[in-house]
Amino acid sequence: ATTAQAWQALHEHVSGLKKLHMRDLFAAHPRRFEDCSIEAAGLLLDYSKNLLTPRTLDILLDLARAADLAGWIEKMFRGEKINVTERRAVLHTALRSDARDRVLCDGRDVVPDVVSVRDACCRFAESVRSGARRGCTGRPFTDVVNIGIGGSDLGPAMACEALRPFGAPHLRMHFVSNVDGTHIAETLKLLQPETTLFIIASKTFTTLETMTNAQTARQWFIEASGREHVAAHFAAVSTNREAVSAFGIDPASMFGFWDWVGGRYSVWSAIGLPVMLSIGERNFRDFLTGARDMDAHFRSAPFARNVPVLLGLIGILYRNGFGCQTHAILPYDQYLRRLPAYIQQLDMESNGKHVTRAGSPCGAATGPVIWGAPGTDGQHAFFQLIHQGCALIPADFLAPAVSLNPLGQHHKLLMANFFAQTEALMNGKTEDEVHAELAAGGMRPAEIEFQAPHRVFEGNRPTNSIMFRQLDPRTLGALIAMYEHKVFTQGIIWDICSFDQWGVELGKQLAQAITAELDGPEPVNTHDSSTRGLINTWKRWRKG
Ligand code: F6P
Repeated sequence: ATTAQAWQALHEHVSGLKKLHMRDLFAAHPRRFEDCSIEAAGLLLDYSKNLLTPRTLDILLDLARAADLAGWIEKMFRGEKINVTERRAVLHTALRSDARDRVLCDGRDVVPDVVSVRDACCRFAESVRSGARRGCTGRPFTDVVNIGIGGSDLGPAMACEALRPFGAPHLRMHFVSNVDGTHIAETLKLLQPETTLFIIASKTFTTLETMTNAQTARQWFIEASGREHVAAHFAAVSTNREAVSAFGIDPASMFGFWDWVGGRYSVWSAIGLPVMLSIGERNFRDFLTGARDMDAHFRSAPFARNVPVLLGLIGILYRNGFGCQTHAILPYDQYLRRLPAYIQQLDMESNGKHVTRAGSPCGAATGPVIWGAPGTDGQHAFFQLIHQGCALIPADFLAPAVSLNPLGQHHKLLMANFFAQTEALMNGKTEDEVHAELAAGGMRPAEIEFQAPHRVFEGNRPTNSIMFRQLDPRTLGALIAMYEHKVFTQGIIWDICSFDQWGVELGKQLAQAITAELDGPEPVNTHDSSTRGLINTWKRWRKG
């Protein structure tokens, strides 16, 4: 699409858009909210506080057509090998299937396998939750530790936290990811081996961090309870059956998935086992249903009324038309505090690419930096820069209409801030308004002159508001699927492969080589002078 006529049209159009102010767009169109908001799969998207006109949308929709987005959506859902560098299908949507569906991959229906692993996970989770499956001394499990990293950590960790009110109160969930020993050491301090269940989650079962943490956990367990009980306290989620049995995990406690599920798209698979353990089978099925609702919307709604497509296209407008470098995710819901980190991996690992599917340089900027934190905390930390800094930072504001903790005035105050921030970012405050306000407060004219420039808000800062009735499993499923499909849409427009992650390999390779060099006290004489200097200083300091 970056070579299409619409791309050129977008750039020309944006130079006109830069002269507009959203305040005027709202004044000119009293029905802007009605025209620029959509409800789908239990979510309301209000995209009216963006710097766009009907003409902008036409151009963006032309881009989607030029990229054959509709064709690519079908290719994904139908199991074509659109992960071109790994020569794999991209079928996380099939993980949301029910038993009546049929999804072919290499001519074989994958749904029976999906359903059978899901059922096995549910049975396992229910047996732990009910206390039927117990630890080696006969006591029920009280703690579950998921050991994984990246997609094998962020999805289940985020979902367990988001759905904590739906979680079993008698099962505490822990997530260990970092190879820094502090992470596992501090977690193990809280636990009794006889009542702890470990889940080793790794698609490849070779990831350095996960395998190191898994060995440490195993050793800790064996020292307290004996090698013969490992099988009762360890489960695994992986595509690598041989490595799992070599680790000593009972095949009956191993849950597989498939190479057509990318790590960052895997929370719907057996990687979601901690979520099932926490919220139970019925809630987990609701979580899948929410995602399925969003899949149906993405696949069938016209692009002009399609939530993920519009989010993707509006993102393109800012990234490529306005040159925005970052995009903020700001959930006004404490339960969603891990969402920004989750979307960060989903988006940045998918669309942080510099060549097209065919391998030539991308003609345009691709994925933005994704960052964020929950409101209202962020307001007292970094919102200053969003309001008055020099960078234009588009942001998604998310909030539930109903709180799961209806305490006094809390939710009303939270929502007042949610509404106020996007309004302030859009409207800003003019110099005249500042002058009038300060004069009304009794400030002297000379002081007003000095103060005014610091207190003016340009406004015109774009936001999407995403509201839902209540944060429950179904809503969370729809929300995550919405972001998956937004990322997909952008990858198609940029003509990149959103499903590989070669960029993480170089650091892994170098770390492996350096690990060997760190043994022994003698200085190294390899590497560039910086890396050599750092390694040798570390060796000296370590000795001391
Ligand atoms: O290094 C990146 C990555 O491959 C992610 O894509 C993945 O989610 C993570 O590592 C963990 O991989 P695995 O599940 O194979 O341990």
